Amino acid sequence: MIHKLLFKGYFQLMKPRRSILSVPGNNKKMHKKASSCKADVIMLDLEDSVPPGAKEKARSIVIDSLLSLDWGDRIVTVRINGLDTSFAYRDLLSVSESAGHMLDSVVIPKVDHSADINFADRMLNGIELHKKFSNKIGIEAIIESAEGLENISDIAKASNRLKTLVFGVADYSASVGAKLVSISGHGEKEEDLYPGHRWNFAISRLVMAAKANGLIAIDSPYGNFIDTEGLKRSAVTACALGCDGKWAIHPNQLDVINQVFTPSKEDINRAGKILKAYREAEKQGLGAASVNGHMIDKATFRLAKQVWKQAEYLGLIKKL
Ligand code: GLV
Ligand code: MG
Repeated sequence: MIHKLLFKGYFQLMKPRRSILSVPGNNKKMHKKASSCKADVIMLDLEDSVPPGAKEKARSIVIDSLLSLDWGDRIVTVRINGLDTSFAYRDLLSVSESAGHMLDSVVIPKVDHSADINFADRMLNGIELHKKFSNKIGIEAIIESAEGLENISDIAKASNRLKTLVFGVADYSASVGAKLVSISGHGEKEEDLYPGHRWNFAISRLVMAAKANGLIAIDSPYGNFIDTEGLKRSAVTACALGCDGKWAIHPNQLDVINQVFTPSKEDINRAGKILKAYREAEKQGLGAASVNGHMIDKATFRLAKQVWKQAEYLGLIKKL
C-alpha cells in the first residue's frame, strides 16, 4: 500500500484519488459493499447523510467497520461532523483513538478558517502520541462556504497533515445564496439557470490554493446518479479546471469518474516524451527542451512526472 507522498512540495504526488465514494456512517451493509468497490477512496460519513438521532450509533459502526473490514488497497477516510456541532470533537477523538491506525485521513466539513485545521491537527498530535500510532493521520478540508473560500490560502497552509481540498457545491450554494436547480443541488441542469459554468471561479480558486501548496483538489458530488451524461460533463469540466478527482455518492458513478481522471494513452505517451527530452536537455546543461514543437521547461517536466507516476501506480505502465 502506498500511502506515503511520492513527491513533496508543489508536485506532491499521492496515491491516486480519482474517485471518492461517500457512504452513510450508520449503514454497515453499505460499508461492506463499499469495501470491494472500484473507488480509490471510501469516505465513511458521520455528517450530512446521518440523521441527528443516529450520530452516536454511526460513530461506533464506523469504528467497527474500520477495524473489522478488509479494505484492500482502498484509501479509507471518515468525514466527521462540522466543528461547530456538539458531535465533532467526539467524532475526532473516538474515531482517531479507536481506529486511527486504519485511517488515512479525517475529512473536516465546512472549514471556514485555518484555526479549524489547527484544532484538528493539535488533537491528532496528542492522540497519535498517546496511542503511539506509526501512521500520521491526514486531514482533508471541505470548502463549502463563502468564508472558507475567502480564507482558502491560509487554510491550505495550515498543517502538513493536509492532503486535499474538496469543493462542496451544495453547502457553498446555500452559503452564497445561489439558487439550486435540482433537489440534489450538485451541478445538475445548471445551464437552465446560468449560461456558463457557475462554479468555475470557486473550483478554480480551490484548485489554485491546492496546487500552490502541493495538495490534491477534489470536486463535489453529482447528485443525480442515473444521469451518466451529466455526471461525465461535470467530471470532464472539473478535470479541465485542474481537479484530480471527484466525489461520488453512488457506486454507479465510479466507472465514469475513474475513466475521466485516469491519464489517457496519449497523455502518458506525451509525458514519456517530455521526461526523456527534458532529462537529455538537463544532461547537456540546458534548462529547456522541445517536444513536437512545444517548449518544455521545469514546470512541464514536473507535470509530466505527475502523469507518469499516476499511470505507474495504476499499472498502466511498468515501473521505471
Ligand atoms: C457536500 O458536502 C456539499 O455540500 O456539496
Ligand atoms: Mg456539505
